[in-house]
Amino acid sequence: MVTQQYTRRSVFSSILSFVAVASITVAAWAEEKVKFLDRGFFSRLLGQCATAEPKDSGCWSYSGGRVVIEVARAPELSAKNAAIRLEGRGLPNRMLVVHCDDGQYRAVRNECTHAGRRLDPVPGTRTVQCCSIGKSTFDYDGRVLYGPASRPTKWYPAKQENGRIVISVS
Ligand code: FES
Repeated sequence: MVTQQYTRRSVFSSILSFVAVASITVAAWAEEKVKFLDRGFFSRLLGQCATAEPKDSGCWSYSGGRVVIEVARAPELSAKNAAIRLEGRGLPNRMLVVHCDDGQYRAVRNECTHAGRRLDPVPGTRTVQCCSIGKSTFDYDGRVLYGPASRPTKWYPAKQENGRIVISVS
């Protein structure tokens, strides 16, 4: 009887140890894959993102489910890892447009799936990150790599044609 109790306790203890080690391993893996933008505590607390709207507000338009950006009128996007945010004008959701490391432009719904704060690109990674304290981080497939967000984010199909970036919002 005592031996049986002892065995149960050992098994339970082993399972707990395994879960603890697995959690630490997963957390370490996430930390390794994720880089954090260097933002101040208060800017995160207030949810201030690093990405601005384009200076030339006429560089983009939205109609018929498509966003069209005139690249020549959006110099903020000329460098890799640069981004602009688009908001209003009937857009169903805020949008973050990123000039990625591979030269492609990508567009993501600019709302963290945790509590809706804005996102910023993280240079040198294939991720975008919430500007809030939780720092939820999403990869280019929309998957959550880090943080309290539990749902994936939405990336929109984007293509370049004749000096324009055309994004399908669907
Ligand atoms: S709103 Fe993004 S982590 Fe909370």
